[in-house]
Amino acid sequence: MKLWAGRFQKETDTLVNDFNSSILFDARLYKEDITGSIAHAKMLGRQGIIDPGESAAIVEGLRAILEDIDGDKVEFSLESEDIHMNVERLLTERIGTTGKRLHTARSRNDQVAVDIRLYMKREIPEIINLILDLEKVLLKKAEGNLDTVMPGYTHLQRAQPTTFAHYMMAYANMLRRDVLRLEDCLERMDELPLGSGALAGTTYNIDRRYVAEELGFKRITQNSIDGVSDRDFAIEFASACSILMMHLSRFSEEIIMWCSWEFRYAELDDAYSTGSSIMPQKKNPDVAELVRGKTGRVYGDLVTLLTVMKALPLAYNKDMQEDKEPLFDIIDTVKLCLPVFAAMLDTLTVKPKNMANAASAGFINATDCADYLVKKGMAFRDAYMIVGRLVSSCIKMGETLETLTLKDFRAVCDKFDADIYDALMLKTCVNERKSEGGPSAEQVIKQMAYIQQFVDERMSANV
Ligand code: ARG
Repeated sequence: MKLWAGRFQKETDTLVNDFNSSILFDARLYKEDITGSIAHAKMLGRQGIIDPGESAAIVEGLRAILEDIDGDKVEFSLESEDIHMNVERLLTERIGTTGKRLHTARSRNDQVAVDIRLYMKREIPEIINLILDLEKVLLKKAEGNLDTVMPGYTHLQRAQPTTFAHYMMAYANMLRRDVLRLEDCLERMDELPLGSGALAGTTYNIDRRYVAEELGFKRITQNSIDGVSDRDFAIEFASACSILMMHLSRFSEEIIMWCSWEFRYAELDDAYSTGSSIMPQKKNPDVAELVRGKTGRVYGDLVTLLTVMKALPLAYNKDMQEDKEPLFDIIDTVKLCLPVFAAMLDTLTVKPKNMANAASAGFINATDCADYLVKKGMAFRDAYMIVGRLVSSCIKMGETLETLTLKDFRAVCDKFDADIYDALMLKTCVNERKSEGGPSAEQVIKQMAYIQQFVDERMSANV
């Protein structure tokens, strides 16, 4: 019999029963559901809303159920609809009528809201730790490649020289902001909704602050309608994860390109690439491709959440049961992608020679050539024009700037001297870029120290 059968004359149609039921996916919230119920039951006892002895019996019963679910000894039923009613049914089956007192001063609406928040409060720090692990790999990769010159691109055209270490720190900063976004989301959602009731609070003398403390929430929600209606914290989390995946997808795309024979800037470890069933020569970057692909999945989950919540009138609507699968899918996907991506990057072999060759061939030092003339007193726009002409004639003659003779240089501008060759050397081009944030080794070392500190602060807070 349904918990709510009192008002009904007929049994629920089996089609509706299955359709309505969320136990197949929300069983995942069992720990949070039981933890929330234990805190609630304790509060009911302390406040004298139920008898303290009965409160203790409920707590004990709930703990035993938790242990049994942990030990895989419990079967949930579709008939009981969701995790909340499954646990309540089990409790009543086990401890009798006392179990029926648990749901005093509570609704499934505030119950589910607290469960999801508790769940996310557990998962977000785990995701943050995985991002920090990836940061550590980026630092390691940067450390060995401070002098690994490579072409930097705009429009995927060779633009200006940079180093692989500088490149790694670009991604490290994106990931740093991903961590900040998740921390921010965690801080904002750290509010207890329990005690909101169905929507309009309760007539019982409950103590929400006690429950908040028991469950480790910093604050309580300020309005009971909002407390049960809102899922913006889940959407915010989904947005932060979408941005994280967007970053990983760009990184994946670059790794895929770098490992192509057109680039050959890097090679994946055999253990992190796959072969082809027909083409014997192939070494495919499947891991990077899947991370890129799964980004679409996380975006889809974000759009699902936004669309489910769009235009819903206050307060709770059953539509909101649809929040769980996308949310869980995001958590699973992100937790799946981060470690394998980090390991793939960790084992990636960088090919400094190929990067340097590519950087030498594409007039990547043209800006530096113009800057040379500027340092000799010329206006940048004039210098830009002169170097543009030089590049154009080099292309016609099959030369590069470094292979021109001093005579060739002087034919277009008499400010060129023998020191132009030193100015055009890629190492010089990179190391002269000493502006803060730039690719010179001294600047990249500072960027690495900043990321290292960011990681260390969080790792030490974890222990
Ligand atoms: N399984 C439901 C959900 O996940 C729990 C809340 C049900 N509330 C209700 N009033 N039917 O949304």
